[in-house]
Amino acid sequence: MAVLGALSVTLEIPDLEPGVKFYTDAGLLSDVDGSVARLRCEGHKRSSVVLLGGAPRKRLHHISLRADDLPGIAMRAGNSGGKVGSGPRRFDDEGLWIEDPHGMLIHLSDCEPDPEPEAGPPFEINAPGRLIRKRRSAILPSASYPPAKPLRLGHVLVFSPDVPRSVSFMTEVLGMGLADRAQDVIAFCCARKNSDHHVVAFAKSTGVGFHHASFLVGDPDEVGRGGRALVAKTGRGDWGFGRHTIGSNFFHYIQDPWGSWFEYYSDMDYIDDYAHWLPQNYAMADSLANWGPPVPHDFVHNYEMDTKLETASA
Ligand SMILES: [Fe+2]
Repeated sequence: MAVLGALSVTLEIPDLEPGVKFYTDAGLLSDVDGSVARLRCEGHKRSSVVLLGGAPRKRLHHISLRADDLPGIAMRAGNSGGKVGSGPRRFDDEGLWIEDPHGMLIHLSDCEPDPEPEAGPPFEINAPGRLIRKRRSAILPSASYPPAKPLRLGHVLVFSPDVPRSVSFMTEVLGMGLADRAQDVIAFCCARKNSDHHVVAFAKSTGVGFHHASFLVGDPDEVGRGGRALVAKTGRGDWGFGRHTIGSNFFHYIQDPWGSWFEYYSDMDYIDDYAHWLPQNYAMADSLANWGPPVPHDFVHNYEMDTKLETASA
């Protein structure tokens, strides 16, 4: 074993305020201390998103993963093009800090997981030959529903200049499994036991960068309802409601203040034992969605590689 799940993503950004507003609008709780904002799911002690203010532009700082066997990972990292280092400025040396072959910083922590979300009411649909809901409505008036509540960070998708090499590092050094991929353009890595279909994913670009962080919500309705509400609050672009082929999850993405994305998801494939999972190599036609609205023109644009100081327009 090694990587067990996702903990957080840390971004450098110019100003904290738009970032804190965006993520709190999305349903996370914020704790701001000077130029650092920590955003967490309700009921969690640990942050899922950390924003470091005062940077010239938005940039992925590092991702944090829960893992065991840190000595084993440290031993393997150097042999696979990685590098073991010390904690960067503003972070302590707890756990293990490594760089992947492309210089992406990864923090590994051997810690207890946050509590699993409690089971909510089952999401039941009436289907042909399977009428399970009778004499009651599935949907209440809109005002009956509270704002979307992110339950936990499920996965982080980052850009990579060489997706197969990134995957090799995650599987050979960090002990993850390749869940599925679409050619050498996008790939999804899971933990080998009791894992969402993907915990870390990679999309091809000219360099490293942050694409999106994805948060589990109660059911597909909450994905759609929460996504629409966040679009209305922020006035930003979105992609969704839709359903992915790879991972099977329902999704709604909303663009953050820097051109990357926030995702609500529900009903993702689950891999309890990687030994019994068969990875597929999908055609590009299946790489993004099974169904959904047209994909925004800059959905897979890595703004961190742009030479000019620019952000996506709202
Ligand atoms: Fe995602």
